[in-house]
Amino acid sequence: MKKVEASAPSNIALVKYWGKRHTKLNLPLTSSFSVSLTNMRSHATITEASGTEDEWDIHGNPSKAQKVLACARAATQDERPLKISIVNDFPSGAGLASSASSMAAFALALNSYLADDAFDLETISHWSRLGSGSSVRSLYPGYVLWDAGTDEEGKDCVAHTAFAASHMPLSLVVCVVDDQPKPIGSTAAMERSRDTSPLYDEFHANNEQYLQEALDAVKNKDFYKLAEISESNCQAMHAVMQASQPPVNYFKTGTKQAIEHVQKMRQEGIPCFFTIDAGPNVKIFCTPEAKDEVHERCKSLSDVKHLLLDQVSDDSPAS
Ligand code: PMV
Repeated sequence: MKKVEASAPSNIALVKYWGKRHTKLNLPLTSSFSVSLTNMRSHATITEASGTEDEWDIHGNPSKAQKVLACARAATQDERPLKISIVNDFPSGAGLASSASSMAAFALALNSYLADDAFDLETISHWSRLGSGSSVRSLYPGYVLWDAGTDEEGKDCVAHTAFAASHMPLSLVVCVVDDQPKPIGSTAAMERSRDTSPLYDEFHANNEQYLQEALDAVKNKDFYKLAEISESNCQAMHAVMQASQPPVNYFKTGTKQAIEHVQKMRQEGIPCFFTIDAGPNVKIFCTPEAKDEVHERCKSLSDVKHLLLDQVSDDSPAS
């Protein structure tokens, strides 16, 4: 029996995506800039279904994955029922980009199963985007720029590696404050922000400058500049959310505790900065040299359940 497996990493945005120019196609309003990780990964396996229906063994509802599957089927004209398993080796639905890595891994597996790897990465990224916008970034290693594009169908909405991880190595300590699924999904929360937040337009108007400064910071290997831009962009995104009606608040007590801890460590000269996505967990980036100290010092945080260690990766998920 034919069986294919593919995996893809989680990615964390340093300049965030928080708004769509097309909801169904998951086309972003503005471009974003992220790093792809090494350890936090999703693994997709596809085999033949035993009956006439698709069989799903995945975390939560398969609706996102069904959109990816429909797109791959339309491209390959292959309607065979499939048995699909997608496993995340880290907490799912908790703002750790598990839908990004799982849709990227699934799209790669579909290309292998249905098309013997005939489609290029750009096409695969159009499939995975239908399930999760930010999954496009998980298909590329290192520092990744996802271009919003302008094409109505999203043909130019593509990502690429802007810098290799080795250009400016970064380590990551994730403070897991809560590993339960988030109270509101990112699509619904983005729509609420678009419809009600007075800060939504300003956030997008500033995107170009954030992007340019973040790209320059990485180009110049300027850790502290990247720290400043990333934290500022993250705080701007959460301000947009919190100004929505009703407010979108992903922060918990442990989130604030970890943020203050990062600020204190940095004042003491430890090169680290935080970023937070659609969930309460705090991602602390630091230089590889500072990783052990950051890790050690985060162990004392009373409202942090556990810590995950990772780093920016140069390994291509598609290889
Ligand atoms: O692609 P989604 O629907 O998981 O949205 C991602 C949104 C953020 O994680 C909050 C920001 C980002 O750019 O990753």
